[in-house]
Amino acid sequence: LSYNPSEPPVVPYYVPFIGSMIEFGIHPIKFIRKYQKRYGNFFTFLMFGRRMTVCVDIDGNDFVFNVKHSSVTAEDAYNSLTKPVFGEGVVYDVPNSMLMEQKRMVKAGLSIENFRAYIPIFIKEVNQYVDKHWTDDEGTVDLLQSISEMIIMTASHTLLGPEIRSKLYEGVADLYHTLDSCFTPIHFLFEWLPLPSYYASEKAHAELDRIFASVIAERRKHIGEKHIDMLDALMASRYKNGEPLSDKHVGNMLIALLMAGQHTSAATTTWALLNLAENPDVVSETREEMETTMGCALVGKDIPEPSYETIKDLSSLDNIVRETLRIRSPLVQLMRKVIKPVAIPNTDYVIPAGNYIMASPIISATDEKYYKGAEDWIPSRWNNVEDEATADKATTDYGFGATTTSARSPTLPFGGGRHRCIGEQFAYVQIKTILYTLLSRFDFSLDPKRGMPERNYQSMVVLPEGPVLCRYKRRKD
Ligand code: HEM
Repeated sequence: LSYNPSEPPVVPYYVPFIGSMIEFGIHPIKFIRKYQKRYGNFFTFLMFGRRMTVCVDIDGNDFVFNVKHSSVTAEDAYNSLTKPVFGEGVVYDVPNSMLMEQKRMVKAGLSIENFRAYIPIFIKEVNQYVDKHWTDDEGTVDLLQSISEMIIMTASHTLLGPEIRSKLYEGVADLYHTLDSCFTPIHFLFEWLPLPSYYASEKAHAELDRIFASVIAERRKHIGEKHIDMLDALMASRYKNGEPLSDKHVGNMLIALLMAGQHTSAATTTWALLNLAENPDVVSETREEMETTMGCALVGKDIPEPSYETIKDLSSLDNIVRETLRIRSPLVQLMRKVIKPVAIPNTDYVIPAGNYIMASPIISATDEKYYKGAEDWIPSRWNNVEDEATADKATTDYGFGATTTSARSPTLPFGGGRHRCIGEQFAYVQIKTILYTLLSRFDFSLDPKRGMPERNYQSMVVLPEGPVLCRYKRRKD
């Protein structure tokens, strides 16, 4: 790796091409911390021929999320990975200005009116799942697997609509799985390899296109019938020039949303429950708040449905999700590609074109400098958000097209700037409603032999290392 003194320092390596890949791949967070200590918040390492410039702490987060789009883009970093999964014409397969319009279209399906309709569906899906699969009074389950299924059922029902949700058992879930298998580091690193998964994903896409096309055509036949879901919102949406999204792009956008939220929300809900299993005091406080707010005991299956406002205001559940995301952010490497040399503000460094830059907000989110007992799960630390170092609150604006949305926060599990996550509120409502339902019906404890799982860094989204065994016990009236 040739080195120019104006570039950030380079991590030494011994094997050309491969560079630091192995050390980084085994534990990216340890790797980044080690070299952050040595070189500061900006340094470069080699990974299979790619030059990755790591940018961490508040300055690094802000730089990656708010750098000028004319110099650094997400689409050049991600499209080879996401196109086989999402399909063409959406997200990173279009110019950035079009993605900003597509994000605006998605917002219509994430309105408060929609959330009101989604909550009873979330509860029904979770109840249906546990009634079918957690049939004993107590038992051990693979929690990640169970939660992943609850996430796919709840998200498919509310985003893709009841018609496609009802086809999940007719092979649609397998088609998603085929697409998902392209979403791995191998596909990112070896984009030029003719992997068989690409062929399989093309076939799965063709089949999904056919299913979406028939559902959309059916809905168009019954124009007066309103459905409150993302499919209806996208079918009704228009670009600024008045053009609608084509049916194919409606389908691809739905796949993209489903995939973006699947492992991220499943991992977060699973880690939240595992931590609750270890912290019965937090469970008691949370149940107490739930019962006071709802004005009745919440035990068993026939619990009353909370309104959108109740779910939104349940601050113990909010703290649980926020704290889980702080120490177990499922996305730990957010990337961009440099297309024109770019200077890092307030440093003498210039990053050359061709490099990738990588943000890893979990580094600041678990830094003692910002959080006492930084690696410990303490939801109550969010009780007085104002006392915490600039909390995530500053960035709840979606950042549509904005280039200056503040990213000067140590905790940014949803990113920042123009590419900030669009699904944050959906994820919070979905995860909180799932936790509300499960905590009313079950007590949880860690499997004594397995304990608290480690993190598995082998996938693009960091998951708890499986099997994620957890014990459940039905609560009785
Ligand atoms: C982008 C995290 C759930 C849709 C992002 C980004 C992060 C993130 C960090 C920024 C990526 C980057 O800057 O490179 C999460 C987490 C979630 C979650 C932690 C759950 C706990 C969802 C859900 C949806 C969604 C439920 C859809 C309903 C998207 C989309 C983008 C995105 C479309 C791309 C935005 C862009 O590039 O402009 N997410 N997400 N996410 N997320 Fe999420």
